[in-house]
Amino acid sequence: MKLLMFINWFGFYMTRELKGKKVSESAVHDHAYKVFPNDLNSYGTVFGGLIMSTLDRIALVVAERHSECTCVTVSVDSMHFLAPAKRGDVLLFRASINKSWKSSMEIGVKVMAENFHTQGLRHILSAYFTFVAVDEERNPIEVPHVIPETPIEKRRYKEAEVRRQRRKKEAEETKESRLKDLS
Ligand SMILES: CC(C)(COP(=O)(O)OP(=O)(O)OC[C@H]1O[C@@H](n2cnc3c(N)ncnc32)[C@H](O)[C@@H]1OP(=O)(O)O)[C@@H](O)C(=O)NCCC(=O)NCCS
Repeated sequence: MKLLMFINWFGFYMTRELKGKKVSESAVHDHAYKVFPNDLNSYGTVFGGLIMSTLDRIALVVAERHSECTCVTVSVDSMHFLAPAKRGDVLLFRASINKSWKSSMEIGVKVMAENFHTQGLRHILSAYFTFVAVDEERNPIEVPHVIPETPIEKRRYKEAEVRRQRRKKEAEETKESRLKDLS
């Protein structure tokens, strides 16, 4: 267990316990959303922005439950709409933490669509959100590490590190290319 020291709103030094937390302690399971006609785009399927906005909120809940701090979204990757959701469907939102680093956390999200007429469950979307925990001055703040327990959680934990390295490489390449353009 680690003790983190920080300054609170009143300028007093405080400590925060930083012991690891299980994935199950912050996960959101099957948050249900019934699709109505005003949720549709001009094509007659669910407006993608509605799903993205709901996911950002749900992933934020996971990040804030895990860190017990205010968190902000810093990146979203691999957001793929795999199938359209339709009028009358029930959207099921799932989100859980894959891994945390110093101040950042990767939250994996998945949306399924359920329809009682067809009894089917369709995979609509998967993506990865990165959040950073911040203090009152909006400075990044340390977060608890993740304790993966099940084989799926362990696989996601391992794969999250690969994606983090990819995100960092991409950010460095963008920075280098911009510097080159300026010189
Ligand atoms: C989040 C924020 C405070 C981080 O500040 P920063 O100066 O980039 O801080 P750092 O460089 O120390 O990075 C902090 C962490 O963010 C991570 N990070 C920063 N940019 C990232 C990105 N684009 N993708 C993934 N992770 C990122 C870093 O890897 C680091 O993680 P670690 O502490 O776990 O190693 C700042 O980028 C910010 O305020 N962004 C805007 C967030 C926001 O307003 N979101 C709402 C959207 S409107």
